[in-house]
Amino acid sequence: MSVRRLAEASVQPASFAFNRANAAAAKQWIKKYPKGREQSAIIPLLMIAQEQEGWVTKAAIETISDMLGMPRIRGLEVATFYTQYQLNPVGTRAHIQVCGTTPCMLRGSEALMDVCRSKIHHDQFHTNDAGTLSWEEVECLGACVNAPMVMIFKDTFEDLTPERLAEIIDLYDAGKGASVNPGPQNGRTTSEPITGLTTLTSEKAILKATRDEEAAAASRAAQAAAPADPAASAGTEAAAAPSNAGKPRTTAVETDPTLKSPSAAKVAPADEKAVSASAPGHSAANANMTSPEVEVVSKQRTGPTTRAEVVPGGVGDDKNGKKPV
Ligand code: FES
Repeated sequence: MSVRRLAEASVQPASFAFNRANAAAAKQWIKKYPKGREQSAIIPLLMIAQEQEGWVTKAAIETISDMLGMPRIRGLEVATFYTQYQLNPVGTRAHIQVCGTTPCMLRGSEALMDVCRSKIHHDQFHTNDAGTLSWEEVECLGACVNAPMVMIFKDTFEDLTPERLAEIIDLYDAGKGASVNPGPQNGRTTSEPITGLTTLTSEKAILKATRDEEAAAASRAAQAAAPADPAASAGTEAAAAPSNAGKPRTTAVETDPTLKSPSAAKVAPADEKAVSASAPGHSAANANMTSPEVEVVSKQRTGPTTRAEVVPGGVGDDKNGKKPV
């Protein structure tokens, strides 16, 4: 990734102002944040400025920082950090950001950059002769499952081959960029397998409506299978009753089946307190004690004491392995 610096002073405009529509949009964005937190709107405001001017100028960064009541240096920090902001004039029809991070690199991003080199300019951040196209290498753009990919303005074009990228660049150069569908370019849907779904092929199986329907059908089937005379089936039902054989034999009050819990009877807090064991009082000396062989002193710790310092032969012992007195 290249160092991100502001454009040369020679190409920087002297001033910046939002047009009427964008000024209203900026106001809306600022209103989304609580009073005193208006600075949080810097990201969308810089993006609106970029969409208006084609790139983010120094004047735009300073004007927006002033609008949000933040030091200009903080506005500059944000603008120079994120690669979504173009700090130099870019191609008027497309600026192609090629992801060069590991997954995309392993899947062929170098070949995509070669396409950009041959079709646009050998070096990134330079426009083609007509000034319509430019390109750069960026870090991961978050579509690694569909690597390799590029981003053009706000759209991503994924699962690319060099041939397909060349076609896309040509379409943008011809002013037909809007006709290219963003997303995977190999026919798959989002990041599904190219051959289509192999799991979760039907939502029905996981819908509650399906489970309810199945439970109702099972209940209807059970009713249909039940004998018409309940008396005749009594013996069968008794035989099918759940067994208690596995239950532990105990007389503990907790397992007494006649007791219902929680008890409906309310106990007064004072009564409850009277029969409860009181919490032990706090003792800083006790709290700091460890096992006797470790804790050779019972006084309050005054600083870091480690086991190495208190066992014979530990830190600070004399040559006979005795603790200093
Ligand atoms: S590595 Fe290219 S999108 Fe993540």
